[in-house]
Amino acid sequence: ATAEKGGYEHFMLKEIHEQPKAIRDTLAGRVKDGLVDLSQDLSFTEAELKRFDKIHFVACGTAYHAGLIGKSVVEKLTGIPVEVDVASEYRYRDPIITPSTLVVVVSQSGETADTLAALREAQQTGAKVVGITNVVGSSVAREADEVLMTWAGPEIAVASTKAYTTQLIAIYLLGLYLARILGTCSETELSDATQALVQLPEQVEKLLQDPVAIQRVAGEIAQHEDLFFIGRGLDHAVVMEGSLKLKEISYIHSDAYAAGELKHGTLALIEEGIPVIALATQKAVYEKMVSNIIEVKARGAYVLGLGLEGDTELGKSVDEVITIPDTRPLFTPILSVVPLQLLAYYTSTARGLNVDKPRNLAKSVTVE
Ligand code: G6P
Repeated sequence: ATAEKGGYEHFMLKEIHEQPKAIRDTLAGRVKDGLVDLSQDLSFTEAELKRFDKIHFVACGTAYHAGLIGKSVVEKLTGIPVEVDVASEYRYRDPIITPSTLVVVVSQSGETADTLAALREAQQTGAKVVGITNVVGSSVAREADEVLMTWAGPEIAVASTKAYTTQLIAIYLLGLYLARILGTCSETELSDATQALVQLPEQVEKLLQDPVAIQRVAGEIAQHEDLFFIGRGLDHAVVMEGSLKLKEISYIHSDAYAAGELKHGTLALIEEGIPVIALATQKAVYEKMVSNIIEVKARGAYVLGLGLEGDTELGKSVDEVITIPDTRPLFTPILSVVPLQLLAYYTSTARGLNVDKPRNLAKSVTVE
């Protein structure tokens, strides 16, 4: 049975290791002369693209977490206001959708009932829908006005990994393409960013080489029933995904907090020995993040800090440090999520659980 898993013990581990290839395949053919070009994927005219005055990302689960990153990315690169909703809420909250709203639905399977219903509702109000999906011929691929495929290949494990990182790549491509057409970033800015983007597969490869520190932390947290993830900015969106991964396959309860919000309640739960996974990859809020780490450390937390390569400070305030290769702040999620995926994986195996098929969950939820 390990043959179909490419020699790996579980599909999830195989799929984690397939990420460099999945990312390369998703980038392929979409970067020309050092700039992002989606004109083969999207048939919008320049005039149509320039007309959008608002963007909605709508999705469920892990794909929703990709949408959260999408908000920061697209707003930073284009200045267009972006909202993000879970599909099951979007439909019932009477969102303000107009013909100049671009709705981006994100769905690995392209069959999630709530996401599909949101897509249909958006179309009925006259909005244009771009579907980001991993399955050719899926309902999202067929029904969306425009499709931006992720080329992750089949994802078997219920816990999504390579689908998420390729959704992020699709979002980066969309953001950089929009910025190019709208002229909201300089050409140098765009080509520098694109250069950093195409380096990501190699950087992910590097990250996958040595899981020893992560295995050690997994062994520690496998003994707990509660833990916390904290981060600021994009790191907050990434810890939400890390927390979901851990819940899904290890059955350990965790919360993902915007670190600055800790003092408004969660700090009451931080006591001796409680594990806290803290991301500190966002340079703009690094100092603030370190002081949040010191706050939980002072209350006895066992802290895993995840920072950028070359960070010599972080180690002073945490119990374990893991670093990711340096990249632009917008792109760190692709790298920082990988150790969190591995952490969930090794915690699940340390507990002897069914990694690929967790209880009560389905790969694709086609009922409301
Ligand atoms: C299920 C899966 C999740 C996934 C979510 C959305 O809950 O277990 O891993 O993120 O559905 O799926 P989709 O196919 O729409 O991305």
